[in-house]
Amino acid sequence: SHSIDLAVIPGDGIGQEVVAEGLKVLAAVLPQDVKLETKEYDFGATRYHATGETLTDADLDSLKGHDAILLGAIGDPSVPSGVLERGFLLKLRFAFDHHVNLRPSKLLPGVATPLAGQPEIDFVVVREGTEGPYTGNGGTIRKGTPHEVATEVSVNTAYGVERVVRDAFARAQARPRKKLTLVHKNNVLTFAGHLWTNIFNAVAAEFPEVTTDYLHVDAATIFLVTDPARFDVIVTDNLFGDIITDLAAAVSGGIGVAASGNINPSGEFPSMFEPVHGSAPDIAGQGKADPTATVLSVALLLRHLGYEAEAGRIEEAVSADLTERGDAVRTTAEIGDALAVRVAS
Ligand code: IPM
Ligand code: MN
Repeated sequence: SHSIDLAVIPGDGIGQEVVAEGLKVLAAVLPQDVKLETKEYDFGATRYHATGETLTDADLDSLKGHDAILLGAIGDPSVPSGVLERGFLLKLRFAFDHHVNLRPSKLLPGVATPLAGQPEIDFVVVREGTEGPYTGNGGTIRKGTPHEVATEVSVNTAYGVERVVRDAFARAQARPRKKLTLVHKNNVLTFAGHLWTNIFNAVAAEFPEVTTDYLHVDAATIFLVTDPARFDVIVTDNLFGDIITDLAAAVSGGIGVAASGNINPSGEFPSMFEPVHGSAPDIAGQGKADPTATVLSVALLLRHLGYEAEAGRIEEAVSADLTERGDAVRTTAEIGDALAVRVAS
């Protein structure tokens, strides 16, 4: 018999509500002989207001022992923008070396898209997760004066770029279409852009079966809307990946269904799974949030831990649920209940 030891971080806003449904579906899909243990962590605005603390070394030590982490959302308007995001979410991604931020986009049958027709959308963005402008390498001088200067340095290491590019090639190689697109902006960001392009081309030589392509990020946003079917796997840096995956979500069923995994491929640290959406304080506590993105993140989590059949069952349940959902307005818990019933049968 097997067991899953899961760290659960509901976080802020709708994070609480959607994670409850994710766990409900997880419990329903697991076979009887798989023992599920969960430990909840109180990260987010509540802890910050109570103790003034964000993620501590003791938290990291405790989290390290789990098989995986399920996270709802971090961020709250009662705390200055960036404090919780940097203090909890990004700190976790960096400390646990989540350098592969996996964000699949699949337009399921019957799901509404703002795009004309019903294009085939089935691609995955491999977003670098530990470098770029997210490292906090910046500063400001003459703050608050008309002459303030702020820098936000994008950090790109050959080591960091090569490992994520390699991961993306391997993923492309394993998919039927075997196509990988590098998205960057090497016509302007000539230092980082050339590093990415050179490494991409060098690694490409080792994957002769993978068709490669390059797009500037601005052009990529056009194609994501006009011809999303052209994409199979996309690899890009942390910030471009953040931006294009919101667009990718918008065209493939909305932010309510976009799932992600922050992967530490070596398994040295637990990987963390979370919906792409944020804490949505405007609708928090009202039972209005769609838990589907969290449920699909649970599927990614299960696949990562080797529970392929269970992951597939969740995805099929979501697909069926979305197809039959129509215009009916359901609460967060109603959607979770419906999915739990489907995966159990
Ligand atoms: C995301 C979010 C985060 C990011 C924020 C909340 C720090 O937008 O997971 O996409 O920028 O990575
Ligand atoms: Mn984002």
